[in-house]
Amino acid sequence: MIHSGIMKIHRGKVPFPIIIITIGVLVFFAVLYAERLSFLSSKSIFKLKPCPRKNTKPKPTGEKKVDEEIVNETWIDDRFEFDSEECNIANGKWVFNQSIKPLYTDITCPYIDRQFSCVKNGRTDFDYQHWEWQPEDCTLPSFNAVLALKKLQGKRLLFVGDSLQRNQWESFVCLVEWIIPEKQKSMKRGIVHSVFKAKEYNATVEFYWAPYLVESNTDINIIGDTKKRIIKVDAIKERAKNWTGVDILVFNTYVWWMSGATIKSLWGSFGNGYNGYEEFDTPVAYKLALKTWANWVDSTINPNKTKVFFTTMSPTHTRSQDWGNMKDEKCFNETKPVKKKKHWGTGSDKRIMSVVAKVVKKMKVPVTFINITQISEYRIDGHSNVYTETGGKLLTEEERTNPQNADCIHWCLPGVPDTWNQILLAML
Ligand SMILES: *[C@@H]1O[C@H](CO)[C@@H](O)[C@H](O)[C@H]1NC(C)=O
Ligand SMILES: *[C@@H]1O[C@H](CO)[C@@H](O)[C@H](O)[C@H]1NC(C)=O
Ligand SMILES: *[C@@H]1O[C@H](CO)[C@@H](O)[C@H](O)[C@H]1NC(C)=O
Ligand SMILES: *[C@@H]1O[C@H](CO)[C@@H](O)[C@H](O)[C@H]1NC(C)=O
Ligand SMILES: *[C@@H]1O[C@H](CO)[C@@H](O)[C@H](O)[C@H]1NC(C)=O
Ligand SMILES: *[C@@H]1O[C@H](CO)[C@@H](O)[C@H](O)[C@H]1NC(C)=O
Ligand SMILES: *[C@@H]1O[C@H](CO)[C@@H](O)[C@H](O)[C@H]1NC(C)=O
Repeated sequence: MIHSGIMKIHRGKVPFPIIIITIGVLVFFAVLYAERLSFLSSKSIFKLKPCPRKNTKPKPTGEKKVDEEIVNETWIDDRFEFDSEECNIANGKWVFNQSIKPLYTDITCPYIDRQFSCVKNGRTDFDYQHWEWQPEDCTLPSFNAVLALKKLQGKRLLFVGDSLQRNQWESFVCLVEWIIPEKQKSMKRGIVHSVFKAKEYNATVEFYWAPYLVESNTDINIIGDTKKRIIKVDAIKERAKNWTGVDILVFNTYVWWMSGATIKSLWGSFGNGYNGYEEFDTPVAYKLALKTWANWVDSTINPNKTKVFFTTMSPTHTRSQDWGNMKDEKCFNETKPVKKKKHWGTGSDKRIMSVVAKVVKKMKVPVTFINITQISEYRIDGHSNVYTETGGKLLTEEERTNPQNADCIHWCLPGVPDTWNQILLAML
């Protein structure tokens, strides 16, 4: 049924929100002028109405076009389907559109860490905020805050993982918080567990710090010397107690594993503190840890009650040669995404991706991937870069001129993680 030719034509001509309006008005018309719409089969109306993924944001310009649009049934059917099983999100392109405005800024949203507050920290090029991810085979609905909160009504959404996961969590909070009046929301930040509450929706959007998912000696009191870090690859139960009773769980773990070719791994003997570790190749240690996580999910999570997501690797862009910049400047001064289709750099470890795919495939509880790796690989322009802090201090003017100070791991907010959440919302 998918007619990509039709979709391409329409994607260029008619913005997605217009379709939504079309549907809204269509349902309205259906009530008023039932006989006029009799040519639409009841089947197709049934198909459209329950679609939970529509973006209901009104767009005044859409109303004029309604009459001509409702005539073409084929067209309506094709446009609305977003199915993560059928649509390969990764296959698409970033399209620049100056009139795309982020739903928030790092000034309007009070919850953004300084690490991600690029504009506040002095970034003056803004193009990175105006790119839209367009999958080739389907339309990705834009993020609708009202819809997101409705889906979260009476629920807990918990992001568990590392600082990239915190990046995504803060993006999610900012994407929804601006429609909630001051008195109806609250934020409690903790070292490990942070909770944003939307009171009138009885919903929470939470973050739990667990950079390896499993335990380690460097989670809380971070050990600078990566050689001294030891990971308890089979210890998860204690902290995972705090991940139960949640409706939507979103996990990640990647970048902390990339500190070297091997990982000091503790296996089985918690009694001895951190003695008696073995050194494993990173993918091996990662696999042991992920299996520990998978076993916990399978033995604890009731898939009828809890939806489980896993955000794939967020690419790091510390090697500019990967995209042909021979100056060895990390992502410094990059203001445009990589154009080359399927670009994949050394900052996304394919071995890790393959471990994730294999482990998850064997799980009983279904886990949905938010597969952000390919789409984010293009976005060398989206990182916090030199508009960040180091050791709790903002980089000075002078420090900012040194490419080696650029943070090419985390992302500016608003920015790329908003698209990750757009994908998450479409799959909720
Ligand atoms: C619907 O639109 C497509 C192109 O957008 C066209 O090929 C098709 O003939 C139209 N169908 C009707 C019933 O008008
Ligand atoms: C750019 O975005 C605006 C607002 O979302 C939309 O109305 C417009 O059609 C888009 N332009 C293109 C060329 O996609
Ligand atoms: C609010 O949501 C929680 C689950 O997150 C639920 O246990 C509780 O009953 C809800 N309260 C109301 C008043 O709906
Ligand atoms: C985790 O749960 C335990 C009880 O199981 C509780 O004592 C502890 O405070 C919780 N920690 C966090 C960070 O929520
Ligand atoms: C989930 O629901 C299905 C169908 O209602 C039921 O067969 C299954 O036992 C339930 N699973 C659990 C873990 O409760
Ligand atoms: C950054 O790039 C611009 C061109 O895109 C160039 O004019 C400028 O000199 C570059 N800055 C540095 C410090 O390399
Ligand atoms: C994520 O997408 C990439 C392609 O973009 C693919 O190679 C990879 O296998 C996917 N990962 C998972 C876990 O499905």
